[in-house]
Amino acid sequence: MSKKRVLSGIQPTHDSFHLGNYLGALKQWVDMQENHDAFYCVVDLHALTVETDPKLLKKRTLLSAAQLIAIGLDPNKCTLFVQSHVPAHNQLAWVFECITGFGEASRMTQFKDKSQKSGADRINVGLFTYPILQAADILLYQPDFVPVGEDQRQHVELTRDIAQRFNSKYKEIFNIPKPEIIKSLAKINDLQDPTAKMSKSASSMAGVIELLDTPEATLKKFKSSVTDNGKEIKFDEKLKPGISNLLTIHSALSGKSITDLESEFSGKGYGDFKAAVAEVVIAKLEPISKRTNELMDDPAELSRVLSNGAQKASEVASTTLKAAYSAIGLA
Ligand code: TYM
Repeated sequence: MSKKRVLSGIQPTHDSFHLGNYLGALKQWVDMQENHDAFYCVVDLHALTVETDPKLLKKRTLLSAAQLIAIGLDPNKCTLFVQSHVPAHNQLAWVFECITGFGEASRMTQFKDKSQKSGADRINVGLFTYPILQAADILLYQPDFVPVGEDQRQHVELTRDIAQRFNSKYKEIFNIPKPEIIKSLAKINDLQDPTAKMSKSASSMAGVIELLDTPEATLKKFKSSVTDNGKEIKFDEKLKPGISNLLTIHSALSGKSITDLESEFSGKGYGDFKAAVAEVVIAKLEPISKRTNELMDDPAELSRVLSNGAQKASEVASTTLKAAYSAIGLA
């Protein structure tokens, strides 16, 4: 039987990915490459919705690819590529823009949040059409699953709606993908505000654990993390969001169950527990950071990997695009 296919993407908007990206999505990417036909892309076109210095964007795109390989993606097992290297993404996006309602796109919560934060005069049209480009990213590869965190669920739902609409209006071209969201890891929270998701756009980085942080910085962030009233190390998302977030992080990286961790730390103080979580995180991140730096020392090799990836991705994408163009009557 042929392997099920997966596709996912990540934006190169910062120098480093964060622990929320890693636990919510990237860890699944690594696991899924083993027994799926996996396509993963660095979505540099999506990153243009945030104004960035061109040199910096270029560097961050390479840094993103390096981090993805450093966390365990193997370009021999998956197709790793950069979105802008495959023009079919924009070509299909336009078709989808023409079958997506204005109201439908206006209901995307990420768009509403971001536009409210920046103010209507400072946002661009790209931010509005962003989820439609994402639908093209996904549907070009006919995936069965899209591994993402909770914040992307609505975009995958929109993608499914667009695919169904196209199929019933024109021709059955698109496979309808399912989001692959691991409930316990789908929303890793900020260490300073444990009710808000860890995010690259947080106003302060004090509660955001970056994969490329130094061990000292990581330890400091955990030590100063906001915890809750009381003394017990117990999982209770409502009453103890800070401790629950730390338990989730420890459990995901150490492989120990939350119940085992609660017994292990029973009678111990918050300080001891925070130091233990930091230790587990640092043990995971230190080699990732080291490997990323090594990969960045050989940009020619990284570019070669990405160019191979783009070639493999283009083959699949152009077949789908051709079928879609033909179905809608583009001669
Ligand atoms: P991006 O770049 O913001 O995030 C990459 C992945 O990380 C997940 N994530 C989290 N998971 C758990 N807890 C958190 N605090 C957390 N923060 C981020 C995100 O859910 C995501 O899976 N629109 C996408 C990029 C994209 C894409 C695609 C994804 C473009 N095209 C096609 C899938 C398929 C985004 O901005 O992700």
